[in-house]
Amino acid sequence: MEKAIIGGTGVYDIGEDSYVKSVSTEYGDVEVDIVKINGEEIAFLPRHGKGHSVPPHLINYRANMKSLEKLGVKYIYATVAVGSMNENYAPGDIVVINDFLDFTKSRPITFYEGGEEGVIHSDMSDPYCKNLREVFYKTAQKKGVGIKGEGVYVCTEGPRFETAAEIKMYKALGGDVVGMTNVPEVVLAKELKICYSAIGIISNWCTGIEPDGITVHDIAGAMEGKKELVTKLFIDALQE
Ligand code: HPA
Repeated sequence: MEKAIIGGTGVYDIGEDSYVKSVSTEYGDVEVDIVKINGEEIAFLPRHGKGHSVPPHLINYRANMKSLEKLGVKYIYATVAVGSMNENYAPGDIVVINDFLDFTKSRPITFYEGGEEGVIHSDMSDPYCKNLREVFYKTAQKKGVGIKGEGVYVCTEGPRFETAAEIKMYKALGGDVVGMTNVPEVVLAKELKICYSAIGIISNWCTGIEPDGITVHDIAGAMEGKKELVTKLFIDALQE
């Protein structure tokens, strides 16, 4: 199957049929949900494993991405939960990620570790697929769903949230939103030559940014409903 959604949720009941496929890779085995929609199979990958059981810094990104490649996937839409340090993007808003700043520290970041695999230096002038981004915009417009704009994603190592000083720095460097999972996911997609687009759902104001002085990190609560809405847009966009 050519199409996949990472982190999507709440739409399994709209499929005609679904099953779980265990895909073996050299980095580990991954369970992927396969859902048949309008006669076509789409792969759904819960990034953190079933039941959100793996923290961001320990996710097996290489196994995840390799499993999708093995299934034949060429196009991926992914949802990412993010905090906002841009006053124009408030909790509940949807933003299209258009670039990233990488502040991760200890994760395997490439499939190419030298030796037999060789060495490659991926081009990062356009890390997020332009076509998928445009189709997403058009689909959202058609469905009457407002997209707030585009944004630069800052990826932190986590699992802790940021300090106010760190957010001040990230903002000064050009960041709009912050999360803990998009790097190396987007980089590995590029290495596999898979078109990849990430859509951010703002779950909270970043530390020190919140207008009322209180940071509420209710990620699951803020994502409720929105994630389902975005996943449905993904399904429509993938059928364009
Ligand atoms: N920081 C880092 N990751 C996040 C946040 C945040 O504020 N919100 C959701 N994921």
